[in-house]
Amino acid sequence: MRKEFEAVFREIQKAIVGNEDVIEKLLVSLLSEGHVLLVGVPGLAKTLMVRAFSKTLDLTFSRIQLRRILCLRI
Ligand SMILES: Nc1ncnc2c1ncn2[C@@H]1O[C@H](COP(=O)(O)OP(=O)(O)OP(=O)(O)O)[C@@H](O)[C@H]1O
Ligand SMILES: [Mg+2]
Repeated sequence: MRKEFEAVFREIQKAIVGNEDVIEKLLVSLLSEGHVLLVGVPGLAKTLMVRAFSKTLDLTFSRIQLRRILCLRI
């Protein structure tokens, strides 16, 4: 399991510079079937990170437009 975790981590790092803590928390959340709300100023690669996760793990990527915030479902 650890090897797989690290392999996914490395793959995400090909797209995302830094943010190791966020990548780790997202992976833990996915493994525990939780939900994550990424919050940050524009341009911090929130969307890119979710896209990288969905591509790496072969998950579907879609957007849900809410009234005030944009949620990404993976
Ligand atoms: N840590 C990072 N690693 C790699 N690319 C980054 C990083 N931070 C910013 N970028 C670059 O900034 C671009 C914009 O990122 P993205 O669109 O994912 O931001 P966002 O956080 O979703 O912004 P918004 O809140 O406006 O939706 C990325 O496509 C990438 O080129
Ligand atoms: Mg975005």
